[in-house]
Amino acid sequence: MSVICVIGTGYVGLVTGTCLADLGNTVTCVDIVQEKIDRLKQGILPIYEPGLEEMVERNVQADRLHFTTNYQEGLKDSEFIFIAVNTPTGNTQGGADMRFVESAARSIAENLDHYAIVINKSTVPVGSGDVVSRVIQNNLKSPQASFSVVSNPEFLREGAALLDFQNPDRIVLGSTEPEAAHKVARLYLQLRAPFVITDLYTAEMIKYASNAFLATKISFINEIAQICERLGADVKQVAVGMGYDKRIGHAFLDAGLGYGGSCFPKDVRALAHMADEAGLHPQMLRAVMDINHDQRRLVVSKLTNMLGSLRGTTIGILGLAFKPNTDDMREAPAVDIIHWVTSQGASVRVYDPIATETGREALRHENVNMDAVTFCKNPYEVAEQADALVVVTEWNEFKALNMQKISAVMERPVLIDGRNIYDPAEMKRYGFYYRGMGRAT
Ligand code: UGA
Repeated sequence: MSVICVIGTGYVGLVTGTCLADLGNTVTCVDIVQEKIDRLKQGILPIYEPGLEEMVERNVQADRLHFTTNYQEGLKDSEFIFIAVNTPTGNTQGGADMRFVESAARSIAENLDHYAIVINKSTVPVGSGDVVSRVIQNNLKSPQASFSVVSNPEFLREGAALLDFQNPDRIVLGSTEPEAAHKVARLYLQLRAPFVITDLYTAEMIKYASNAFLATKISFINEIAQICERLGADVKQVAVGMGYDKRIGHAFLDAGLGYGGSCFPKDVRALAHMADEAGLHPQMLRAVMDINHDQRRLVVSKLTNMLGSLRGTTIGILGLAFKPNTDDMREAPAVDIIHWVTSQGASVRVYDPIATETGREALRHENVNMDAVTFCKNPYEVAEQADALVVVTEWNEFKALNMQKISAVMERPVLIDGRNIYDPAEMKRYGFYYRGMGRAT
């Protein structure tokens, strides 16, 4: 078993650190935000992820998982140092902001007093491994300090992160020193996943290409959805029919409001930016982003088609989080939709099983008129007196609602199913004017 330090207790860092501790390693998670560390020491997590709280508690109790703001303490005896800080969009052209990665590298250099392998887990522009190497090299203080750099992109999904960590499809490791990459591979041997060992640049690119491909699948099916709607076909069944072809597969063919979250939007933008900078014109990536944006707009057009002007109407919103099983509101379609409809004079009634506080914060942050927003205790309350109901996030709870009761309490039973979770014929039977995304009506 190994001694590991993880820098950054955000989503990736906390999941990675905790799961590595759960495999039997001794892990110290370092974060510069004192409040975050204090709360983690009390067992209060900064994110919602199913199963994580229990896993943190179990490993803290077993003395395998520690939290600190002190780099020296975190790096003590560490054989592996994971950098897992965030790389948000940093400029208007979509380039990734490397500030946090660089400052983590500097702090590692200033506190390292032995040999360690520095592993980059953050999604960083191709070529960043070299930057990390250079920053550490230029700032080393101790003559005993030396290091190797390995890129090890993560492929965890929010809401399924523990499962994804324990059952990875592949482990990608890139380095200019293959021996260092093989040492990191040993950390993951128990997981029995295939290893892809490459140079640094290629590993960094695998991450972007994977996310961009998945985003492309989503925009592709959303474009097909629009065509289906016009021509009278049902995109849900089209996707099922396509998915049986093993070369296509069923995954990521759910048409709807498009992708959100902290990864796809940022990574597609960053990849397009890298291509631009290299003098290329990434046409497909641009189309993927445009289609994704249009899907959100479509909901507003559907509402105006059904209701006429939105001024003075009440729109019910089911779901705020960018996807189910998370309270994450980053780039969530709900924010744009609520912003647009309230700007047109509608008021909204909203409900999300988890993302209430994060939802409120995100709406405030986008300068939504909060006087026009009512937070409700359940979906039935949302529906009361509403002129239309929009399903924004496909929480399981919404699939099991008594839709007859919902339609009965609405002012006008208009249902915009932004995630295609209901059966159109059944909804019509309950008296709804139903519109899905890419479904004949
Ligand atoms: C995504 C990738 O799936 C992970 O492999 C990757 O590690 C992660 O980004 C990352 O780079 O850190 P995540 O953002 O958690 O994970 O969420 P996904 O479950 O992939 O969903 C992304 C978005 O696509 C959501 O907004 C979801 O609603 C949307 N989506 C997904 C669709 O609209 N249709 C689909 O068929 C699938």
